[in-house]
This record gives sequence, structure tokens and C-alpha cells, in this order.
Amino acid sequence: MTAAIDIRALGYSFGSHVAVDDLTLEVEAGECFGLLGPNGAGKTTTIRLLNTLLPLQSGEVEIFGRSVRTDAMLVRRLLGYVPQQLSIEGALTGRENVEWFARLFDVPRRERSARVDEVLEMVDLRADESRLASTYSGGMVRRLELAQALVNRPALLVLDEPTVGLDPVARDSVWQRVAQMQRDHGMTVLLTTHYMEEADELCDRVALMHRGRLRALGSPTELKAAAGTGASLEDVFRHHTGEALDDGEKGGLSSVRATRRTARRLG
Ligand SMILES: Nc1ncnc2c1ncn2[C@@H]1O[C@H](COP(=O)(O)OP(=O)(O)O)[C@@H](O)[C@H]1O
Ligand SMILES: [Mg+2]
Repeated sequence: MTAAIDIRALGYSFGSHVAVDDLTLEVEAGECFGLLGPNGAGKTTTIRLLNTLLPLQSGEVEIFGRSVRTDAMLVRRLLGYVPQQLSIEGALTGRENVEWFARLFDVPRRERSARVDEVLEMVDLRADESRLASTYSGGMVRRLELAQALVNRPALLVLDEPTVGLDPVARDSVWQRVAQMQRDHGMTVLLTTHYMEEADELCDRVALMHRGRLRALGSPTELKAAAGTGASLEDVFRHHTGEALDDGEKGGLSSVRATRRTARRLG
């Protein structure tokens, strides 16, 4: 069977800084797959390469057998994407935000209204659809983004840090929707997070990334068993990198600063 995502020897550098280093990875259709690692590990760069937002430098990526290099338009139609940065327009209502995406992603005009109803229903925002998105809570904004990503009925849903900055109740609610949609629609889900406990609960398999490289791959159960009795995914990470996750976060912060400096230079 064709893999949902087939990543082969993928590499990407920002100038001399290697963000993704020789990454090879397959995600099967119907899987919920977690790309895990501290800030700066290369998760977002990997996602932007596979959803065609960044041009490939080296290696190959295929989405359901379609090359992101030569079939970018087709790949985009197969994908729903919730970016790490917010993608909601606060001056529009919740419903208008979803309608806008439906137009962007070529949902046929005759089907649009019903499709928008359907996804707003799924994320439980029908009652609030007429309010401006600027009045939504963080959890509601994330659910609205999910609705946007789902309106073209993607075969692959890609979520970049969908729960960062949310309180535990809102986080649970986002994860419940994702799990339910995956069950009901047989969708493939690729998500990134640096919350290991969440990935442990939700993902069929996870890949641990560190400094652009794949460090471990398997089901949470397998990985924890290999790391020793009573190990958590955090322990697995430490086992494979020799570092605690929060050391990585410190590195992450300085790399965010470096990114901002680069952005200023470019901007
Ligand atoms: N636009 C950019 N310019 C320069 N460096 C970048 C840019 N985006 C990301 N990086 C660097 O690439 C590395 C990987 O970043 P990223 O893929 O965002 O990691 P993650 O999503 O795992 O936090 C980091 O060191 C980051 O600083
Ligand atoms: Mg990221």
C-alpha cells in the first residue's frame, strides 16, 4: 500500500544552519503519527517541506504517492494544515473564517454552505459561529482552525503544535476532536508537539527529532519498554539524546532569537 507520507533523505538548511538532517520516515495511511522534539528540533521545517510551503533542497517527499517537488498542487488538495502560528482573521466571524478557507481550497460553491455547517458542527462551534473570532478563547480559536483545515476533507491532517499555550481543559478538547475525526473519517494525522504525555496518549507511533535528526521511531509502548521499566517518553528522549527536554528548550529559545535576528536582517 502507498504510504501516506514517504520522506527520504530529507535535508534543509537555513544558510549554514542545518535544520533537517538526512531524515527518512514513512507514515502509513490511517495512522496518528507524532513528530516530537524540543523547540528547534526541526519539526516545523519538516512540516513546511511536506506541505509544499518550503521548496525542497535535498531528498524527496511523497504524499500518497504524489511528489511535493512535481505535484505540489495535488499534494495541497490532499492536505489540511493547522500552522503553529495563528491563521484566524479576528475581524471575521467564526463562520466567515471557515467560508474563506472553503473558497481558498476550491470547495465547490454548491457544497460550501453544507460543508461549513458540517465542520463547525464537528468542532462544536455552531452556537458561536456568528461571533467575531477576536472574541473567541484560545481553545475556540484552535478548534476554529481545525474546522478550516477540515473543510476540504483532507486525506492527511497536519497539525503543528495544536495545543501550545492552551489550558489543560482546552487541550483535552482539541485532542478529543482530533481523535474522533481520525476514527470517524479514517484520516491520517501528523502532529508535532513537545508535550510528550499527550503524544503518548494519542499517537500510534512517534518519531523523536533532535537537532534535525531522527533519534528514535516506534510506538510509545515499544519505545518506553526499550528504555526500561516505568520509563516515560521524556525518559526515552533523554535515553536517546543524553539530554533533558528542557535543555533543548533553552537551545530553542536562543535559536528563536537567532531566527528573529535573521528575520530582521531579511525584513
Ligand atoms: N526562517 C528561518 N531562518 C533561519 N533559521 C530558521 C528559520 N526557521 C527555523 N530556523 C531554525 O531551524 C531550526 C529548526 O527550526 P524549526 O523547524 O522551527 O524547529 P521546531 O519546529 O522543532 O521548533 C532551528 O534551529 C531554527 O532556529
Ligand atoms: Mg515548530
